[in-house]
Formats: sequence, C-alpha cells, structure tokens
Amino acid sequence: MTVKITWLGHSTFLIEGSERILVDPFITGNPTAPIKAEDVECDVICVTHGHADHLGDAIPIAKRLGVPVVAIYELAQYISGRGAEAVGMNFGGTLHREKSSITMVPAFHSSGITEAGFKIDGGLPGGFGISMDGHTIYHAGDTSLFSDMKLIGELHKPEVAMLPIGDLYTMNPYTASIAAEWLGVKTIIPMHYNTWPPIKQDPEDLRRMLEGKADVIIPIPGHPIAIE
Ligand code: NI
Ligand code: MN
Repeated sequence: MTVKITWLGHSTFLIEGSERILVDPFITGNPTAPIKAEDVECDVICVTHGHADHLGDAIPIAKRLGVPVVAIYELAQYISGRGAEAVGMNFGGTLHREKSSITMVPAFHSSGITEAGFKIDGGLPGGFGISMDGHTIYHAGDTSLFSDMKLIGELHKPEVAMLPIGDLYTMNPYTASIAAEWLGVKTIIPMHYNTWPPIKQDPEDLRRMLEGKADVIIPIPGHPIAIE
C-alpha cells in the first residue's frame, strides 16, 4: 500500500498511510512551513527530542486533536505535565499501535527544553523507525553520523530515510551520504537544511554523492512524496 510523505519544512513530516503520523511538528515560527499548526490533522505525533525546532507545536496540536505524543520517557513526562496525552518510550523499544509500529533509536545530539529562561531536562535525543502498510521509514532526528546506523540498517532495514544535512548542528551532505550507505536505504529525503542561513546547504550535493547508490528525493514543502 502506498504511503505518502509530506515535508512541512525543517524536520517536520506528515507520513500518511493507514494512519497519519506527524513527526517533529515545528510549524509556528518555521519560515518554510506551508501550513498553519491549527490546520494540521494527524492520528499520532512523534517528537525526536526537546529542542524547540522539533517539539514545536506538538503540545497544542495534540490537545486540539486529542491525539498522543510519542517521545522519550523524560520528554513524555514534560508533555503530559503540560496537559497533552503522551506515550513515553526509550531506545530499542517499539510501540505497537493498531495500524503502525514506532521504534525509537538513538541519535548523537543534545536535548533540553528552555522555558521562561529555565532549562528543563528533555531526556536523550533519538530518531524513529516507523513501520506502516509494509513500509519502514527512518526519521533520524538531529544527529551526527554514528556507526550504529549500520545496526539500524541491519535490524530495521529501512526503505526510506529522512536525514539531516544542514551541518553545524547535524550531519552535512557528505556524512549523510555515508549514513545512507550504512543504513542500506534505497531512498533518502534530506531535511534540517535551508530553514535559516546557518544551515544553508545544497541537497544536490547529496544527490551527486549517492549517484548510482540511492535515490535522493529533494522535498518541496507541502508536496507529498508517494512511496509505492
Ligand atoms: Ni536539535
Ligand atoms: Mn534541530
């Protein structure tokens, strides 16, 4: 069955199949978002880590729709403390839902929430393996290249990977090209670039580096990519 993946700018994706899964809903304040947070519809929200450009609008969207937010345990505690439904999990675990399963995997990054000038522990940063309708999709969150991506490839065999390429906070096109090979994925969708000048990158560089090895689909905000 076809799964549709729609980039909403930065690391925000809506993955639609038997369920609608919204990942890292940073919409308000995201200069490349094609939609307003008030207009997004989904069945479940996944948040990779506590940084504002990933947690984003998760809490207000979850409250408006009455849907759960899936996040690492400490971040889930924070989210439920703010009045939204949250499901806490941790690395290596899988949340088995009726129509999808969501596995949390590590990322090499930092986390933490800033609120009214105070720092709140957001738990460790992660990524998600999402399986639905016979497809497995890996959203890496914010991360450097790390060699356990080989293990993620071996264990979960993702078909599609969303990989950050903006550099400065994450991988760049070169390290993302190595990640793609280690993961053994057929299709790469770059993310976390060109939102602001410090993470300006040309995704064509990644495409050139992976020529003959994997397909790089350069996403356009709001335009669904069909995974057959
Ligand atoms: Ni981050
Ligand atoms: Mn980020």
